[in-house]
Amino acid sequence: MASRQFFVGGNFKMNGTIDSIKGIVKHLNEAKVDSNTEVVIAPPALYLPLTREHLRPGIEVAAQNVFDKPNGAFTGEISVEQLRDSNVTWTLLGHSERRVILQESNEFVGRKTKNAIDGGVGVILCCGETLEQREANQTIDVVTAQLKAVAETVKDWSKIVVAYEPVWAIGTGKVATTEQAQEVHAAIRSWMVKELGQGPADKTRIIYGGSVSEKNCKDLAKEKDIDGFLVGGASLKPAFVDIINARA
Ligand code: G3P
Repeated sequence: MASRQFFVGGNFKMNGTIDSIKGIVKHLNEAKVDSNTEVVIAPPALYLPLTREHLRPGIEVAAQNVFDKPNGAFTGEISVEQLRDSNVTWTLLGHSERRVILQESNEFVGRKTKNAIDGGVGVILCCGETLEQREANQTIDVVTAQLKAVAETVKDWSKIVVAYEPVWAIGTGKVATTEQAQEVHAAIRSWMVKELGQGPADKTRIIYGGSVSEKNCKDLAKEKDIDGFLVGGASLKPAFVDIINARA
């Protein structure tokens, strides 16, 4: 197995309060987490500095989104400079909730990814197909088109982690089977070999998201091309630590 560091992200989405986020952070600070796993948590933007301030060093903080332009007249947006200023070292981009609900295009996600990478912020780049697309056998085409829009503008993928999140598995309790997930992860890695070269394809982490729990994480983590998880609902619960320790 290639030596890619296991990576587990927690996407809190639009959940939490000052008190509940302090509670999650306290639990993580006191937990025994596998030191071989890279852990990043993504609270709502409002709580990023609070999280960074209380969270122990060694666990990083991610935004859930960042804009594609520098500071300026963009009401409601957050810049890469502002993330760096707040010691936020990662951002999610291209989450399906933003692609579907907020109509973010592949190209817009590509521009935002370039801006984050150029500004020194790592990107957890989400991709994934809807149920209709899967049933129409379009999974690989959809996912590679989402990644291609990024590859067109970003040449250095060393600070990108790809998160494959089938839309039909998000928040539904319907997790992809280990075979379904591994099949798409392997296809993404083959795409990377062709588009980015063997070196970046071997090094880039491809993590799985979609109803990951403490019950299914160990089997998924055994698959050759599954290098970690992006966890939604379960990242708000104590069991998140079991997912972080899936390979321990
Ligand atoms: O980004 C994580 C995600 O969309 C999966 O959410 O709640 O199914 O783990 P969940």
